[in-house]
Amino acid sequence: MRRLVVISNRVPIPDASGKAAAGGLAVALHEAFQAYQGLWFGWSGKVSANPAAQPKIIDKGQVRYAVMDLTSLDRQEYYNGFANRALWPIMHYRIGLSEFSRADYAGYLRVNRSFASALAHLIQPDDLVWVHDYHLIPLASELRAAGITNAIGYFHHIPWPAPEVFGALPGSAELLRGIPDYDLVGVQTERDADNLRRSLVQELGAVRRRADLLDVASRRVRIKSIPIGIDVNGFQQAAQRSGSSRLLKQTIAGLGTRKLIIGVDRLDYSKGIPERMETFERFLVSHPDQRGQVTYLQIAPTSRSEVPEYATLSRVVNETLGRINGSLGEPGWVPIHYVTSAYSRAVLAGLYRLARVGLVTPIRDGMNLVAKEYVAAQDPQDPGVLILSKFAGAAEELTDALIVNPNDKVEVAEAIQQALHMSQEERTARWQAMLKVLRASDVSRWAAALSMTWLAIRQPEPVAKLR
Ligand code: F6P
Repeated sequence: MRRLVVISNRVPIPDASGKAAAGGLAVALHEAFQAYQGLWFGWSGKVSANPAAQPKIIDKGQVRYAVMDLTSLDRQEYYNGFANRALWPIMHYRIGLSEFSRADYAGYLRVNRSFASALAHLIQPDDLVWVHDYHLIPLASELRAAGITNAIGYFHHIPWPAPEVFGALPGSAELLRGIPDYDLVGVQTERDADNLRRSLVQELGAVRRRADLLDVASRRVRIKSIPIGIDVNGFQQAAQRSGSSRLLKQTIAGLGTRKLIIGVDRLDYSKGIPERMETFERFLVSHPDQRGQVTYLQIAPTSRSEVPEYATLSRVVNETLGRINGSLGEPGWVPIHYVTSAYSRAVLAGLYRLARVGLVTPIRDGMNLVAKEYVAAQDPQDPGVLILSKFAGAAEELTDALIVNPNDKVEVAEAIQQALHMSQEERTARWQAMLKVLRASDVSRWAAALSMTWLAIRQPEPVAKLR
């Protein structure tokens, strides 16, 4: 059996009970590992003063995990610094928030090089190598330099911005030069694919051979939109079974006859959380009869708290929340419930099913799996309504959601009103159409589509792969 070697910054090693982690990437790759034996390589999540040069190996089922510690300087420069303070904001169209530092960039390259040198010893000639996420863009170049000639793919989970935005990052051309060392680059949407292809043409003089095929100097790379899906059946079942959860029972009792609006996001400025709270405020001001009739629950687990922009966001959210609840709340009713704990997939599925409205209004998002999970979790007899930002990758597929511009608070507030008053017939029709889309591109099809594309690129291409 052929091996799949996955590399990602975080490695979701199953816990002692063997239970796999619940994140989107973990579930998606679990599917891919059904068809291949696997090796999953990345950061252990730990920091140590003298990390070993070789990874720690942990075998679980048919997957071998290989993880490396970082020094605290590595974490600061590679993860907090370049990946999350310079690249993340640029990729999310926030040029003004991007803080570039040469030291951070050097740290980013150093960690990619040390990952590649440890990984090169573990790669076998027939392995398919599959790199994930923006932390590791230069990894293929480092692997090629270490003599690896295997097919290497990269999946970019977050948006790829327009060339004018990407070009604002110092060293953007150097980062782009790493792209053709991959054979296949998968992105979430057609817009991302187009943006990346245009960047390669404009910054590196790449030549387009076919719609998704580009020649850059002596290498050929395929850039393709392969939107990530979810485990639709698994999520539906989790939602059906969720009724017995204590937390859900408490939530139902607390709601009484009120309708629930739900938002679930990592606490990240790309998700538009304070803006969403202000939108809800606008809705309550424009529709005073709805006060006391509806509760908005925002779940926002804390994220990347060592990065200053995230600490600022946390303060802004708390201030916005306090102001709105203080000015519009009543003794028996709190308009916005805000929780920073992370909940299990089972609890989230139950909360999604309970909510009449799923409010998914990121300012920019690669895909947004919450939108897909919200749809999958609905009760077929009485489904809720998804309000979805046009700037989430999911909006390219879920066209039967109420699609909104998150920057237009009036528009989103009116979408909330429309969703709360939508007939059961219209809710059902929209939900059925979206479920059909989810099923057509669920996570097993995503993994299969990638593998098939991948095997296709093994066919000889007319341009020789050098090195
Ligand atoms: O969406 C991109 C991504 O890197 C995911 O792959 C990851 O699960 C998520 O962001 C969380 O980020 P972090 O690992 O920084 O907590």
